[in-house]
Amino acid sequence: MLTSDPRFIATKCLQRVIYHGDSLSDVLQDSNVQSSEDKALIQDLCFGNLRHFETINALLEQLLVKPLKQKDKDLECLIRIGLYQLIYQRTPDHAAVNETVAVTKKLKKKWSRALINGILRGFLRDKEKLLTHAKKVSIHALPIWLIKRIKKAWPDDWKQIAANSNKKAPMSLRVNLSQNTREAYLKQLAELDIQAECVPLSQTAIQLVKPVNVYDLPAFDKGAVSVQDTAAQFAAQLLNCQAGMRILDACAAPGGKTGHILESAKQLTVTAVDNKESRLKRVDENLRRLNQTAKLISADVADTKAWWDGQLFDRILLDAPCSATGVIRRHPDIKLLRKDSDIAVLQKLQAHILKSLWPLLKSGGKLLYATCSILPDENEKQIEAFINQHNDAKLCMIEANWGRACQYGRQILSGQDDMDGFYYALLEKEIGN
Ligand SMILES: C[S@@+](CC[C@H](N)C(=O)[O-])C[C@H]1O[C@@H](n2cnc3c(N)ncnc32)[C@H](O)[C@@H]1O
Repeated sequence: MLTSDPRFIATKCLQRVIYHGDSLSDVLQDSNVQSSEDKALIQDLCFGNLRHFETINALLEQLLVKPLKQKDKDLECLIRIGLYQLIYQRTPDHAAVNETVAVTKKLKKKWSRALINGILRGFLRDKEKLLTHAKKVSIHALPIWLIKRIKKAWPDDWKQIAANSNKKAPMSLRVNLSQNTREAYLKQLAELDIQAECVPLSQTAIQLVKPVNVYDLPAFDKGAVSVQDTAAQFAAQLLNCQAGMRILDACAAPGGKTGHILESAKQLTVTAVDNKESRLKRVDENLRRLNQTAKLISADVADTKAWWDGQLFDRILLDAPCSATGVIRRHPDIKLLRKDSDIAVLQKLQAHILKSLWPLLKSGGKLLYATCSILPDENEKQIEAFINQHNDAKLCMIEANWGRACQYGRQILSGQDDMDGFYYALLEKEIGN
């Protein structure tokens, strides 16, 4: 990018997400900002904007006489940045307006100064009334198709799910128990005045009161902790790997669970497969930091002929590609990027991968199916169909004090106990088949 103005960069990032369908994590990574202060501001402007996307849309409808032309959608995104600052940030109003208007020059659209200035000042003049209306019409702040699905699946919980999906998620850590106890690590955090507490539902999780830069965490670079939501930390626990086992992490990138599996038992042979080469590099980086190793393979995991060496696995983790509807609070761009029709496509893909991997599991071995989705089509129904088609697949009960038991598997709803929405089902291959 030509300029380092954070508001300009945030405008361009938003434009790519809203109008080009790119993921927010990807565009933020591409923006390659060095200053940590600027980075934090850009992240807040973008994440916050998408979290409040529906409210800001409702405001734009009231403030714009007619929608801006396709070639001026950068200006619309700039107005979004300006409104977000005026509503949700502490920047004094005059500074927020002036700094937003100044970006028009960097966008090479100086002609639009009066337009942007007028819209933002118009908003300030009637702020309470405009905002009250906008919040009323965007009350659940999720796409209609998704609200319909959530309402159908969770009729008593859908409002809470919607509210939780639009809250900021806490920063949670996984303590590497092969290096420290949680209590010992909490002490190290306290010595640095980083406030945190153990999450009682989990054996490994710590939740920070306020997010911090990972490099400010004691021994982060030596693998003492990893950033991971508590809900994701149940995977390694459920797999219950024992020393010497052969493990397949089927959709591994960026490797959060691969690292946890390797921390959970000694002398494991882990094969980590992902079909995105660039994301597989992140697995490598994560494992290096943890001083762990795995066999990394870039392939379509369902195409087992292309990558499998013929040796059966004791455990398989299938953390399947999914709608990510349980993690909207961490990835608010999901609200824009997912479509209703994606669900059937994902459901088919998940069923295909599950079916292809089952023959790779030993008799008596276990496969853990996981998603960060809250939609039964990708979860409970998927597993029900699989069990009905495979006589040698037995569903193991997950006895736990987190989430809720479903007929098939266990579901954590978005924000339940301040965790991400997650689904787990543990399948065992019956001996003798
Ligand atoms: C939910 S993410 C996995 C998160 C990861 N297990 C972790 O804990 O960090 C799903 C992953 O599946 C990968 N994927 C999607 N389709 C795949 C396929 N056919 N074969 C292998 N990997 C696939 C995606 O690239 C993505 O990295």
